[in-house]
Amino acid sequence: MEGSLYTPGAGHSPPELVGRDALIQEWHRTLNSVAAQGRVAARDMLLTGPRGVGKTTMLTAYGRAASEQGFDVVNVQAIRHHESVVDALITKARTKLEDGAGAWVKARNAVERLSGLNVGVAGLSVGISTRDDSTAAASRVNDPGAIAAALATLSDAIREDRGSGGLLITVDELQAAHPSDLTLIAAALHRLNVDHPTATVTFAASGLPHTPQVLTDAGVTHPDRLFFQDDVPLTLTPEQVELAVAVPAGRRGVSWHPDALQAITNATNGYPAHVQLFADAIWRVAPGPHRITLDDAKTGITSAVQEVNRRTLSPRWNGLADRSMEYMAALALHGGEATTKQLATTLGRTAPNLSMVRQRLLDQGDIYAPGRGQVRMAMPLLVPYALARYEESRAQSDTPILSLDQMRANQVREQSPSERSAPGLSRGTFEQGRQVTPPKTPPHREPGR
Ligand SMILES: Nc1ncnc2c1ncn2[C@@H]1O[C@H](COP(=O)(O)OP(=O)(O)OP(=O)(O)O)[C@@H](O)[C@H]1O
Ligand SMILES: [Mg+2]
Repeated sequence: MEGSLYTPGAGHSPPELVGRDALIQEWHRTLNSVAAQGRVAARDMLLTGPRGVGKTTMLTAYGRAASEQGFDVVNVQAIRHHESVVDALITKARTKLEDGAGAWVKARNAVERLSGLNVGVAGLSVGISTRDDSTAAASRVNDPGAIAAALATLSDAIREDRGSGGLLITVDELQAAHPSDLTLIAAALHRLNVDHPTATVTFAASGLPHTPQVLTDAGVTHPDRLFFQDDVPLTLTPEQVELAVAVPAGRRGVSWHPDALQAITNATNGYPAHVQLFADAIWRVAPGPHRITLDDAKTGITSAVQEVNRRTLSPRWNGLADRSMEYMAALALHGGEATTKQLATTLGRTAPNLSMVRQRLLDQGDIYAPGRGQVRMAMPLLVPYALARYEESRAQSDTPILSLDQMRANQVREQSPSERSAPGLSRGTFEQGRQVTPPKTPPHREPGR
């Protein structure tokens, strides 16, 4: 059918946001409290989850809710090895000043008065910037207290302007921010709590599951006390998948056959990124005009799987270093979920010996730790893909890494006689992924990575 209805691209808000009502309601309550009581009632949020579960989507929804309640929203995304998050916030502040946004201009004057600093149009940088701006180096204030004061003044000005609301700062991909930015942001939020309890400023960020660890490593003390961490649910339930695909179609006068709904639920296992991508593929192949049939779903799923292979799995797989690839293959042998001990056995190494490769995969978001000593693949469809691609990729590897048969043999050696007779390996929860058929000729892998 013509036109696009679903959101196959990352970060795009879905046509129907399902299964997040409780989180949004809670957020509305928080905003209400902040607007009424100020910082003292703020719950600075940290939304965590593996790739593709809807963190950016939630942060956008938080921003929208805040705008509706009269908050001014400043949102930035942290990108590793790029501009600092704090500098990105300053750039946004400058744009608002240059645009002549009432509250911001008022706040500039107030900040000048408050701090006695020479704050020009680039003024807030004095309060917020800490580095990487050589022209401002002389006057740069690396002082969370000054930043907190500037933010409090800003939020007062916003309230004066609008009669309600305040200031919300959001940072997407917080785990990618520079450690010095993380400590500065955390300290400024803390100073707001201490020095400006009535300021209507609040903060929300999203990040991969290991973000709290990244904060701790950066030197942020007690991130658990500073932020309220909410895990974005990993998957949508079958009912939620049905709503996510059927409701937007219904608005266009198109109905999904129950078998077609069942097919997309099975094929995606409720992984939000794939629900949108698969629904989009099905929509595009379906002739319509009023129904989406099981046959449409089957054809669409086949093309979506090819697209996932090409656009997502293949680049991820080709970008893995040899040892990471070996680790992922071992994890795939366990169905995508295993304990670190099991992986050590399968790879014939010790768990501490594997910790570097594990950490690298965690940092990249390819795996996450659902519990202590556990590891899970972030993208369910990578399980069958990894198994199918591994031996060919291993043949091109410069590092001597184990074959799948050697890994299986390691497992068998560790098993008790009774376990050995049990049929097959655990496939974990990723049954649906088996339908992925990777391309016959894999693209050339970068040597030695
Ligand atoms: N609650 C939901 N209902 C329906 N679709 C959703 C929902 N949450 C997210 N999606 C869709 O899933 C896809 C992935 O969402 P999003 O980009 O927000 O994930 P993410 O966790 O930020 O991923 P990444 O870690 O890769 O940045 C998008 O297409 C989005 O529209
Ligand atoms: Mg995102």
